[in-house]
Amino acid sequence: MDGAALIDLHCHILPALDDGALDMSDSVAMAREAARDGIEVVCATPHIRSDHDVRIEQLPERIEELQGQLDARGVPVRIAQGAEISQLSAETLSDRHLRTLSLGGGGWILLEPASGPIAERLPALAGELAARTTGVIVAHPERHAGTNIVQQLCALRDRGCLLQWTADFVARADPEDPGALVLRLAREGLVHLLSSDAHSSHGGRPLKLRAGFDRLRAVCTPEQVAWMAEVAPAAILRGELLTPPW
Ligand SMILES: [Fe+2]
Repeated sequence: MDGAALIDLHCHILPALDDGALDMSDSVAMAREAARDGIEVVCATPHIRSDHDVRIEQLPERIEELQGQLDARGVPVRIAQGAEISQLSAETLSDRHLRTLSLGGGGWILLEPASGPIAERLPALAGELAARTTGVIVAHPERHAGTNIVQQLCALRDRGCLLQWTADFVARADPEDPGALVLRLAREGLVHLLSSDAHSSHGGRPLKLRAGFDRLRAVCTPEQVAWMAEVAPAAILRGELLTPPW
């Protein structure tokens, strides 16, 4: 994947909307950071969650506004639609809203588990949502690691979910540490996608993906990394059905 165009499926790049980019200049700086890392498409995934007042009907114009600013400045990044839908909100959304909030409009939704360890009922909920959409991507499992994390991830995988880990978390995993959870799970096929989940150019997780994929090369085959980095994200934006080939 050296030099290949990358797609970030999870990023809070829209300005002054949720807890992401502070303002338009922050959003533009984030897009420039993405471009430097070889990212060509960034999905704008604001929180759909009770503690953020994100109006679904306003998202298309917010994306258009940011895209206009990037185009005017010659920043070579395309902003695609999307959202990070909380576990609680997902149950209340209509099929039409789920489609509007899907990544690239192709029907794949990004599902944020409730805080704390992955809930017992999440695999069943994800299965119900998958039946109403093209598919379900579970965001940042590393933030929801309880004692039964492996069993819960297997249950989600068995329901057809894709598991999206945070690229910076993976990049920081020590390849010399046999106990590094994410590398062990990558070896076992439970890492499907990496995304930045960046919130700002002023700090926090960077809008970068490449270092995370580089780290996965220590434990995955080149074909697996290419699937995670290129094949799967592009197919998700096209709204294709998708199963990891391992
Ligand atoms: Fe997020």
